[in-house]
Amino acid sequence: MFDLGGKVAIVTGSGSERGIGRATAVALAEQGATVIVTDINAEGIQNTVSIIQNAGGKANGITLDVTDQASVDSMVKEVMDTYGHIDILVNNAGISQRLSVADMKVEDMKRLFEINVFGLFRCTKAVLDIMKAQKKGRIINLSSVAGKRGGGVFGGAHYSATKAAVLGFSKNLAREVSRDGITVNCVAPGLTNTDIWASLTEDVTTALIKDIPVGRPGETREIAAAIAFLASDEAAYITGEEIDINGGSHMD
Ligand SMILES: NC(=O)c1ccc[n+]([C@@H]2O[C@H](COP(=O)([O-])OP(=O)(O)OC[C@H]3O[C@@H](n4cnc5c(N)ncnc54)[C@H](O)[C@@H]3O)[C@@H](O)[C@H]2O)c1
Repeated sequence: MFDLGGKVAIVTGSGSERGIGRATAVALAEQGATVIVTDINAEGIQNTVSIIQNAGGKANGITLDVTDQASVDSMVKEVMDTYGHIDILVNNAGISQRLSVADMKVEDMKRLFEINVFGLFRCTKAVLDIMKAQKKGRIINLSSVAGKRGGGVFGGAHYSATKAAVLGFSKNLAREVSRDGITVNCVAPGLTNTDIWASLTEDVTTALIKDIPVGRPGETREIAAAIAFLASDEAAYITGEEIDINGGSHMD
């Protein structure tokens, strides 16, 4: 089950060393997909590609800035020219900013929406007609527990707003494209063991863990595993859904 052999998967923001994107790229490749590793960070891209290839997987790196329409269009064209199909898109690229609304400027809000929401929109739109023509596709978007309950530890209200927007956008799109064989789902991670977590002092992590029933942050591989499942043929009857991966810190 969950064999992704023969499929081409684009993962945005998959260059970060301890990030969810890299773990996702690795997991999709382990399931047999050819992974297009994309990021603004060229060195990070190369490292992710090397990790996958050294493990015997298939990967190709393309520099991508999701805020730049020309960059998105050229990445999609290069993938289509090389492979002729795009089966999976994981919209992972995203940023946060710890800031209270009192201190927030319109520019802060715009910057987060530009990457977390408009970036996702650009990439999604760029593959939509391709997936429609194929009558098959998987779009998986990174939301967050912060988009459901607010109060993200690493982000402000603007971050929560972008991640709530991702949920609404995904549900609406799922309704639009279900008859085309395309599913659109989200994963909503809680605290995850990435760079930011690693940079916190023990006092802070101990306080944060108190609110997590499982008693630890999530591992990036645990987020990636859910994404790999949603990308599989076996998940064809799941759409417009979000999978909460938060150790029980938020239960619907
Ligand atoms: N880490 C967490 O605890 C957590 C929790 C919930 C949701 N998320 C979401 O998961 C996703 C990944 O988070 P992460 O913690 O792994 O972050 P990360 O910072 O490790 O990775 C994000 C990647 O996005 C890339 N990126 C930034 N701007 C870009 C742009 N304009 N174009 C292309 N790429 C760009 C960065 O270079 C980086 O490699 C984000 O959408 C984040 O909001 C993370």
